[in-house]
Amino acid sequence: MKKKLNKIAKDINLFLLKFLSKQKRTDLIKSMKYGLLPGGKKIRSKLIIDVGKIFNLRYHNLIQIGAAVECIHAYSLIHDDLPCMDNDSLRRGKLSTHKKFGESTAILAGNSLLTIAFEILSEKKFKLDDKTKIKLINLISECSGHSGIAGGQYSDLSFERKKIPLKKVIEMQIKKTGKLFSFCCMAPAIISKKYKYLKKFNKIGSDIGLLFQIADDLLDYSGNTKKAGKKTKKDLKKGKATLISLLGYKNTIKYSNNLKSKIFKNLYVFGKKGTDLKGTINYILERSK
Ligand code: IPE
Ligand code: IPE
Ligand code: MG
Ligand code: MG
Ligand code: MG
Repeated sequence: MKKKLNKIAKDINLFLLKFLSKQKRTDLIKSMKYGLLPGGKKIRSKLIIDVGKIFNLRYHNLIQIGAAVECIHAYSLIHDDLPCMDNDSLRRGKLSTHKKFGESTAILAGNSLLTIAFEILSEKKFKLDDKTKIKLINLISECSGHSGIAGGQYSDLSFERKKIPLKKVIEMQIKKTGKLFSFCCMAPAIISKKYKYLKKFNKIGSDIGLLFQIADDLLDYSGNTKKAGKKTKKDLKKGKATLISLLGYKNTIKYSNNLKSKIFKNLYVFGKKGTDLKGTINYILERSK
């Protein structure tokens, strides 16, 4: 699993470097690359490849979709670290983008990474029909905006130091993290035109995303800053609304194991074809970064 993940990360970075090298050289590129390329796990891209396997899809098209997703993800991290948001100075084992380049540059690099995702998906050279490209762009936009990442981040910040019911916390985590995972799981069904699977993979994706965010919160609680590449033990200080703050550490682990079993049950119908995806889901819970 680790080997496959590293290979995908390498291929995504190569794709992105090539894509950027074809564009005009601007003053923002350095800060964009800094927040985008080194250190990220590229786990969302791995999910696209894993689900792609279920649909017997070609690797290269999936890498292009993964590259777009990683741009949006990197933008969300750059903005997440800003002083007006989580105010974090360490990301992926390095200074966060605003610490390195300044706040205004970080905001603009983030904006540019968001929009470049749409350039990647609409690229002429990308061998998908226009209707499919529009479907992908439509869905990734929805998953990133006010009903996805941005909306979820808004709730995350407004929930700080408040007593929030479990249902609302889960809703917030699905928006800020789960929606982009849903996109990753739905994109292979879209490009295979197997639309009847969309609902199923929407649910599988948001469950995996929720699991991923819970694992991230567990890592914040008990993980190691050096290994994680970002400062840990911050959620408690900030009064973040998490499952841990509501249920405690041990019960959150139980919750995550139950959630994992539920996802595995949903994948049962795909038999052996779902093996890689299951491996990634196991990794999501066991990781230390
Ligand atoms: C961190 O995401 C932010 C969350 C949504 C929890 P990742 O853990 O995927 O971050 P990188 O890309 O590997 O740095
Ligand atoms: C961030 O969640 C989720 C995003 C959509 C960016 P966190 O704030 O927990 O992510 P980390 O812990 O800073 O990576
Ligand atoms: Mg945050
Ligand atoms: Mg954060
Ligand atoms: Mg976190």
